Amino acid sequence: MQRVFSGIQPTGNLHLGNYLGAIRNWVRLQERFECLYCVVDMHAITVWQDPAELIASTRSVAAAVLAAGVDAERQILFNQSRVAGHAQLAWVFNCVARLGWLNRMTQFKEKAGKHRENASVGLYAYPNLMAADILLYKATHVPVGEDQKQHLELARDIAQKFNNDYGREIFPIVEPLILGPAARVMSLRDGTKKMSKSDPSDYSRINLVDDADTIALKIRKATSDAGVVPDTPQGLEGRPEAANLLGIYAALTDAELQDVCHGFAGSEWSRFKSQLADRAVAALSPIGAEVRRLLADPGHIDRVLADGAARAEAIAAPILAEVYDIVGFLNTPRRG
Ligand code: TYM
Repeated sequence: MQRVFSGIQPTGNLHLGNYLGAIRNWVRLQERFECLYCVVDMHAITVWQDPAELIASTRSVAAAVLAAGVDAERQILFNQSRVAGHAQLAWVFNCVARLGWLNRMTQFKEKAGKHRENASVGLYAYPNLMAADILLYKATHVPVGEDQKQHLELARDIAQKFNNDYGREIFPIVEPLILGPAARVMSLRDGTKKMSKSDPSDYSRINLVDDADTIALKIRKATSDAGVVPDTPQGLEGRPEAANLLGIYAALTDAELQDVCHGFAGSEWSRFKSQLADRAVAALSPIGAEVRRLLADPGHIDRVLADGAARAEAIAAPILAEVYDIVGFLNTPRRG
């Protein structure tokens, strides 16, 4: 049985990195797998969230996932906090994962920064909740961007340790799906930093809801370099901004990077950027318009998420019962 699970945080605006690195792959995978897609509101509160904004972001992220083409009737789209099993399994995993494993997580170090002592315990245990998200459904495949790779390795370690400790092959060893040239889209201002919702400069990212003029302006202003487009990807070595812009073009057009280089070889950045802007607008404008249409009816989004949660719960309940039974919690009729 093959099952896909992936999640996205309802914090800030979704951007081109989220789209090319994750959501677009979610849409494609739904043709081949049973898929669960989750708006991870419980992960979001590992750093402070204004409650009203969290609700609004949960709806707008769900709208973006639907607008990008996820079919919530055929597949499952829900928000994490509605299925209690995520928190319940996360607690069990808090007792399986080792401190040493979490101490190695680079994302915690980045997010906690210098004020480690002030970070929430939730931020530290974040990867355990992520493992619970996936394993609550015994998902086998997890499409994510490159930045989630280490978290997925931890999910594999947790599954393996649980299976070993209890002598049962209950959890699958999950397969990360890190796909395509846009698995790590970088900031438009600094090609060494990833495109991120939390970057203070809005010019560093293209948001899914940016209008055509804004997209074109941001691409025009994007940092490039003094060279021209090289004729092969080898010519991009040591040129992070150039590599990023060409990678985005390749992803948007579903082309190989080498073909994009070949096609634009010798071109000035201004010419390349205007083509890139056209491609980005063509890909994102319809999504932005659909997000706005969906957000005009929040009741519909809420119904989609509630329905998804009920179906997720039906898959999760027997798996959680199995785990509780294996662990030795006296709570199932079987043990009486
Ligand atoms: P989040 O909300 O930060 O990002 C959602 C997805 O977008 C990808 N992504 C990127 N891909 C390419 N380039 C970028 N610049 C870029 N920025 C973000 C992320 O890799 C991710 O796939 N911890 C997760 C959410 C999560 C999850 C899960 C994912 C919670 N539980 C279980 C998979 C399975 C996160 O914070 O993603």
